Amino acid sequence: MPILYISRKAHFNAAHQLWIPELSEEENFEMFGKCANPNFHGHNFDLYVAVKGSPDPKTGLVMDLKILKKIINEQVVDQLDHQNLNKDVPWLSGIMPSIENIAVAMWQRIAPHLPENVTLHKITLWETQNNFVEYYGE
Ligand code: NI
Repeated sequence: MPILYISRKAHFNAAHQLWIPELSEEENFEMFGKCANPNFHGHNFDLYVAVKGSPDPKTGLVMDLKILKKIINEQVVDQLDHQNLNKDVPWLSGIMPSIENIAVAMWQRIAPHLPENVTLHKITLWETQNNFVEYYGE
């Protein structure tokens, strides 16, 4: 059976601040740039969730993307949209809300909810028009 990768895109807006309390203000700004601003700031995040599987012989689909949309919305987007990622999201509590760490947390929340015939392949999270991370679950 051929193996294919199919993706669903989602979008959310959220605020965060990247800051290490043990570092000085100067060191934090050197490390995180504007993401260290003390009163938080927003990003328009784009999220791509890719799953891997073979098309069902009857439907021709790897996965019903309406189901993937529902999982993404329930597990991550509805909980992050218009929230402060440092303060408002229980499953990000105590985690530096970098796109790296958010992508790993998203994987842990989405993977267990997928149908048995597909596996999560990649989480791609865009923070700006220029910066994004990809996570393959390793
Ligand atoms: Ni930022």
